[in-house]
Parts: sequence; C-alpha cells; structure tokens
Amino acid sequence: GESPTSLYTLTEEERMLKEVVKKFADEVVAPRVEEMDENEKMDPAIIKGLFEQGLMGIETDPDHGGAGASFTSAILVIEELAKVDPSVSVCCDVHNTLVNTVFRKYASQHLKDKYLPQLSTERLGSFCLSEPASGSDAFALRTTAKKSEDGSYYTLNGSKMWITNSAEADIFLVFATLDPSKGYKGISCFVVEKEMGVEIAKKEKKLGIRASSTCTLNFDDVKVPAENLLGDEGLGYKYAIEILNEGRVGIAAQMVGLAQGAFDKAVPYTYERKQFGQPVGNFQMMQYQFADVASEIECARLLTYNAARLKEQGHAFTKQAAMAKWKSSLVAQQASGSAIEWAGGLGYTRETGIEKYWRDSKIGALYEGTSNIQALTIAKFIAKEYNT
Ligand code: CAA
Ligand code: FAD
Repeated sequence: GESPTSLYTLTEEERMLKEVVKKFADEVVAPRVEEMDENEKMDPAIIKGLFEQGLMGIETDPDHGGAGASFTSAILVIEELAKVDPSVSVCCDVHNTLVNTVFRKYASQHLKDKYLPQLSTERLGSFCLSEPASGSDAFALRTTAKKSEDGSYYTLNGSKMWITNSAEADIFLVFATLDPSKGYKGISCFVVEKEMGVEIAKKEKKLGIRASSTCTLNFDDVKVPAENLLGDEGLGYKYAIEILNEGRVGIAAQMVGLAQGAFDKAVPYTYERKQFGQPVGNFQMMQYQFADVASEIECARLLTYNAARLKEQGHAFTKQAAMAKWKSSLVAQQASGSAIEWAGGLGYTRETGIEKYWRDSKIGALYEGTSNIQALTIAKFIAKEYNT
C-alpha cells in the first residue's frame, strides 16, 4: 500500500470509505478477476455488489438514494477498485462520474427524482458520445434527434460506438444533434431507457479491461418522450465536455490504482524469489527501479487528488484534470510494464495476474480523450496564459 504521506489530505470519512471499498475489492472482486478477464464478461454479482455497497451513487444526495459524499470520495473508490480490477473500476467510474453527474448537474427536478434513485440502487448507466466517425472530434457526431410535430417526443437515429457498460446498462445518456447545420451547438442530451428500443450490437474483443463491456449501439427510430431531453436543447456539447473534465480525474484515479495494484503484486514477490543466493529485490538495481516507479506513482496520485480537490472546492481544474489523466496513464504503463519485468518469466504468464495490469493500462491513453487531446487541452491553457 501507499505511505501515509499520500493520505494526509483525506478526511476521516474518506479513509473509512477507502477501507469499505478495499474489503469489497479483496473479498468480492479479487476471486473473480481472472475468470472475468478470460470470459470477457463482468460477473453480474459484482455490479449487484457495487449497488449493495452504496458505491453507485457516491455524490448523489441521500434523498435520491445516494451517499452524498465528496467528489474526492468518488475518485478514491475508482482508485481502490482499480488496484484489484480496472474493469470493475471503470464500470463504477462511468456510472458515477459521468452518468450520475450529468443528472445531478443539468437534469430537471423531474428527471432527477425519476432516475437518480434508480441509478443509485439498481440500474446501470452508460454515457454515449463517441461514434464510428467521431472519436476525438466528438462534436462532429451524426446521430440525429427529431422533435415530433406535437412536441411530445423525439425520434433518435444513428449509431454510437465504444460504449462502456452498454451490455449491462439500462439507462443511456445519448448525445444527438437536432440540427447538424448548427454544428456543435445543435447537440442535445437525451435519457434513453433500454426498453425504448436501444439495439446493443457488436461487442468489442479487446486488449485489456476485457470484463468491461464495450459495444456499438444502434438507434433506429427510437422514440424518446420529450421530458427525457436532459437540460436545454443545443447545450448537450457543453454538458458532455464539462462532465468529461470531471471524468478525466476519474480515469486518472483508475490509472493510479492500476499502477499501485501492479506494484503491490510484484514487489513482495521479488523479496521471495532468490537468484545468486539472495532475494532479487535486494539488488540495488532493482531497488532503484522500485524507488523510481514508487515516486512516479506518488506524482500521479498527487496530481489526481489535487485536481479532485480543486474541482470539489469550486476552482478551475480542467488543466489539472488533463495533466492528471495524461501523467497517470503513462505511469500506469510504466509501473505495470516494470512489474512484469520484476516478476521475471512468471510475470509474463497469466498465473500471477501481473500481465493483466499491463494490458489494462493501455486504455488510459485512449478513452475520455486520448493523450494528444489532453496535451491539446493543456496547451490551450498555456497559450491563453502566455500568448497574450
Ligand atoms: N472544457 C470546457 N469546455 C470546453 C473544453 C473543455 N475541456 N474543450 C472545449 N470546450 C468548449 C469550448 O469552450 C467551445 O464551447 P463554446 O463555443 O460554448 O465556448 C466548444 O467546446 C468547442 O470548442 P473547440 O472548438 O475548442 O473544440 P473542438 O471541437 O476542437 O474539440 C472536444 C472539443 C470534442 C471537446 C475535444 O477537445 C475533446 O475533448 N475530444 C475528446 C472527446 C472525449 O473525451 N470523448 C470521450 C467519450 S466518453 C468515454 O470515453 C468514456 C469512457 O471511455 C470510460
Ligand atoms: P481518433 O480520434 O480517430 O484518434 C486516432 C489518433 O489520432 C489518436 O492517437 C489521437 O490522439 C490522434 N488525434 C486525433 N485528433 C487529433 C488532434 N486534433 N491532434 C492530435 N492528435 C489527434 N466513448 C463514449 O462516448 N462512451 C464510452 O463509454 C466509451 N468507452 C470506451 C471504452 C473503450 C474500451 C474504448 C477503446 C473507447 C471508449 N470510448 C467511449 C471512445 C473513446 O472516447 C474514443 O476511442 C477516444 O475518444 C478516441 O477516439 P477514436 O478512437 O475515434 O480515435
């Protein structure tokens, strides 16, 4: 585990929450990790457990069935789950930091009252922005929404791609355009329930986070009641990116947890494994690498916690969130790659679970904005500050 110095900013409540999640991760998630990775399928018992433990409405207010906890709490849950399984972590992350947050921040009282309790207790959410032809260029999306003549419903047509949680989700936040001629100012956000006619199509076979479902969704004349427009027409793009700024802190936390999980698995082994008559962990060259990786993880964690606290206290945090995600993704790859080397040939097999961290680490540089997109975001701030 990490040293107490990296915990000094946490409140007593946050530390207690970390313990609850750790227990759940060790007792419920850990025994299933290998099988879920092999089968490329999330065990439904885990999603059920996340709801039962009260981890699916962390920031949601208690009146809506949530825990009413801080943003940092949500971040700590993601980190703690990722130490054991980054797939379970992202399931919880998308549900909390993206889906619940959109409702909490932008939905009408009616939509909050209707959906937040379900999302806190039993129904899983998905965030549907990316499409086959629009990933980084997310606002070039082509899925359309058309308002009916009597104004009572919208009809959605198009496809979404790469949608996390979609095989298990019931509630989909779908970004679609009401008027392509308006560019990104035509984008709106809709709450679509699976029963309204969402078709879950191709499920991707992936390098890592294989227990996390990633599917294409088709919308073929899906009718959505007018009241399920979330927020205002034409502001969907703003909701999407504002929420992604927060979500990126979540992915940073996922990558920090992953890095720590790999470290925690590999280092103890090096003190057991003997070569040249002594534990390999005793060699100075190994110890240098441990120190290097441990320091990198600490950097990534502090960037992440800092971005979380800035956001929580109402300060600007977009630049720091992008930095946290970018750096943590790199650190996760480095730490999990080194962990394989520290465990030698055994680390390369599926026996230790270490190679899985490395496969899982690559996604950090891709989703919720690639590393280039994070760099662009940071560079925009630098230009604003210096190119005056
Ligand atoms: N924060 C707030 N607002 C932002 C912003 C940010 N980081 N970046 C852009 N905007 C706003 C701008 O202010 C502008 O709005 P106004 O006109 O109202 O001022 C508008 O967005 C367009 O700005 P740009 O022309 O600069 O943006 P762009 O079209 O070049 O690209 C972008 C914008 C699509 C947001 C791009 O920067 C980006 O982030 N792409 C990555 C998309 C992404 O993260 N997808 C994630 C999908 S969900 C997911 O991946 C979940 C998962 O896996 C677990
Ligand atoms: P592209 O945008 O085609 O990028 C290809 C390359 O070009 C990248 O290296 C990129 O950095 C680079 N590039 C693109 N534009 C620029 C630029 N302007 N400057 C410099 N370099 C650039 N999306 C959702 O909406 N919801 C989800 O739940 C979700 N879950 C996902 C789960 C997984 C496992 C994966 C793989 C993806 C998921 N995504 C999701 C989609 C994800 O957000 C996109 O894959 C990501 O935004 C990149 O888009 P793209 O794949 O189309 O790559």
